[in-house]
This record gives sequence, structure tokens and C-alpha cells, in this order.
Amino acid sequence: MATKFFDHGKLERNVSLLGIASLIVVAIGGIVEIAPLFWIDNTIEKVEGMRPYTPLELAGRNIYIREGCYNCHSQMIRPFRDETERYGHYSLAAESMYDHPFQWGSKRTGPDLARVGGRYSDEWHVQHLKDPRAVVPESIMPGYAFLASRALKLPDMRKDLAALNNVGVPYTEDDIAKANDDLKAQADPDADAGDLIKRYPKAQARDFDGNPGQLTEMDALVAYLQMLGTLVDVDSARPQEVER
Ligand code: HEC
Repeated sequence: MATKFFDHGKLERNVSLLGIASLIVVAIGGIVEIAPLFWIDNTIEKVEGMRPYTPLELAGRNIYIREGCYNCHSQMIRPFRDETERYGHYSLAAESMYDHPFQWGSKRTGPDLARVGGRYSDEWHVQHLKDPRAVVPESIMPGYAFLASRALKLPDMRKDLAALNNVGVPYTEDDIAKANDDLKAQADPDADAGDLIKRYPKAQARDFDGNPGQLTEMDALVAYLQMLGTLVDVDSARPQEVER
């Protein structure tokens, strides 16, 4: 019999020794996985076009969370053919890098919304949110008609932006200082939104709810829905790997 390089029998018969040896092996495995995270700046590959939410979009996103839309809708297109054919290019990690908390969701009673922006008109969204069955007769989505009549309460958006800035969302001091004005300017067809769009490229500024006289929760929610998935030009950001 060949001489044993290591007497494994001893290890197997001694519980304490086995415990210590197991701990060492598991620790090595753990360090190999964790240690690189301390040296690399980011685990997410940046893509062109990604920017933080405008204050109005953020207010809409807060309503989306408040109403629990994520209970029925995901915002994460997986790289499978059935998904990319239905919803568009699969989601990139960078597309939710400024989401706190992310809205990937875990349930799809309704369709994925990651790229719903621009797919429908504002009027369609307003109609659909007020009474889903008015536009999709077989829909089981609840109605949210009250959003159209509820004035958008104006919390101090500067605090929202500052809080997100604290966790790494790159809002500038200028963005934070102008947050409340930006929110109003984006939904007001008479306001000059030039400065806003310069700081938030591709921001869409208009009256969203068909009621220019009032800034409603509907304005904010539709503004949010209409920007989802519109920031990154996904087809040029990455070579198309999924056959379509
Ligand atoms: C009880 C589950 C449920 C909830 C809660 C829900 N939805 Fe839906 N949603 C659906 C279903 C089912 C559909 C598909 C039928 C339809 O279009 O109405 C849908 C469709 C949609 C669509 C159209 C998507 C597409 O690509 O055609 C949008 C936009 C939408 N929902 C937004 C919302 C928003 C915003 C909220 C929260 C205010 C919300 N939904 C809450 C179930 C839900």
C-alpha cells in the first residue's frame, strides 16, 4: 500500500478536529468570494444614459410603492426568449442601480413593467388606472381612480433626494436644492423645463393626467410609468445576445 500523504482517518474520528478543519475550509471558500468586493469599486457595469429619477418620477415611484403595485408587477425582464419577445431587451443591472428599494418584484399577476415607458399614451394610462376594464375588458387589476382627484401632496423632495444621495445616488447639490421646483416644472406645461432636462437627460415634461390645472398623484405615477426603461439605449449598450 502506498504511504499515506495525510491520515484522513484521524480527522474523521476526531469530532473537534473535524470541526476545526471544516471551519478552515469554509472560511477559505468565504474569503475567496467576499474579499474581491473590498477591492473593486462597483459590481455593476455602468451603462450610458442611466441617471437618477427626477423628483416627479420619484414621487410617482413612491406612490407605486405605497399602492403596492409591486405585489402584482415585476420590473425585471429575464434573459429568456419568451420574456424578451414579450417585454423587450432583458433588464441590465445598471438599470436598477439607483433604486432604493429595487422593484424587481417576485410576482407577476400583471405584466412586467420594466420597459412599459412609451408603450402607451398618457391617456391610456390614466384611463387604465382609473378603470382597467375600460381599456382591457378581461383585466383583473383594481382601479385607482382616486389618484386623479388627489392633489400631489408636496413633501419636501429635497429630503428625499438628500436621503438617496446619502446611500450613493449621485444627485448634485444643485439637484437637491431645486428638487421642489423641478417637481412642479416637470408637470406644468407652462413652465420652462429646460434646466431640468439638462440635468436629467430624457426627462419628459408635460401635463400627464389630462388635467393641466392641478398637480395630482396621477401626474406623478404616469410620469414614473412613462420613463420606465426609456433611459438606456439597451440595444447599443450591449451586443444583442438573445435571439429575437
Ligand atoms: C391585483 C393585481 C394588480 C395590482 C395590485 C396592480 N396591477 Fe397593474 N395589472 C394587473 C393585471 C392583471 C394587468 C393586465 C391586464 C391589464 O392590462 O389591465 C395589469 C396591467 C397593468 C399595466 C399595463 C401593462 C402592459 O404592458 O400592458 C400597467 C401600466 C399597470 N398594470 C400598472 C399598475 C400600477 C401603476 C399599479 C399600482 C397603482 C398596478 N398596476 C397594480 C394587475 C395588477
